[in-house]
Amino acid sequence: MDTLQVIQTRHSIGKVKAEIVPRGVIEKLLNAAVQAPNHYKVRPWRFVVLTGSGRSQLGEIMAQSMKARFPQLSEEALAKERTKPLRSPALIAVGVDKPSDSKVLEIENICAVAAACENILLAAQALGLAAQWRTGDAVRDRDVKRFLGFDEDQHVIAFLYIGYPDAVPEAAPRPGFEDRTVWME
Ligand SMILES: Cc1cc2nc3c(=O)[nH]c(=O)nc-3n(C[C@H](O)[C@H](O)[C@H](O)COP(=O)(O)O)c2cc1C
Repeated sequence: MDTLQVIQTRHSIGKVKAEIVPRGVIEKLLNAAVQAPNHYKVRPWRFVVLTGSGRSQLGEIMAQSMKARFPQLSEEALAKERTKPLRSPALIAVGVDKPSDSKVLEIENICAVAAACENILLAAQALGLAAQWRTGDAVRDRDVKRFLGFDEDQHVIAFLYIGYPDAVPEAAPRPGFEDRTVWME
């Protein structure tokens, strides 16, 4: 598949097999991630790769934190939260460094890290993997950030769920660029 085909055919795939994604394959995704453009070459991306019991530990923190925020929630709702990270055999949490120099803007760091995430999604597509970018309240949660080794004021912009596709959903064609584009000639 050439680059444009990979871009055109990439879709979020949530349903994956239990099959483990080898570390070497995940490293290929991370290597693709760090090819993203980044202003001042600050490499503002931080990746935390969760596999095996790392995912259940994250699920436990997510459920505990949800319980602290919403004490009235049912055990069923908490159990659902607890199992969320188990939906894929591998999950990459992606955080953004705060600027350490006044010339560096946080928004630009976020842009660079978002580009790194897209590189991961495209590399996954090229390698025949399934990938799904997810966020939700958990990415903004203080305890989740602490568990992942991030500072409270750092942005976590993605949980990228990675696996081998099980059910590939029928993808509707995407709207075009025309109604979002003005040509100034
Ligand atoms: C910043 C960001 C956050 C997202 N968060 C979620 C999420 O929490 N849950 C989810 O199912 N999909 C999430 N997505 C994936 C989008 O729903 C998905 O990309 C969109 O439906 C378009 O489908 P496609 O990826 O197949 O083109 C997120 C995507 C982005 C860029």
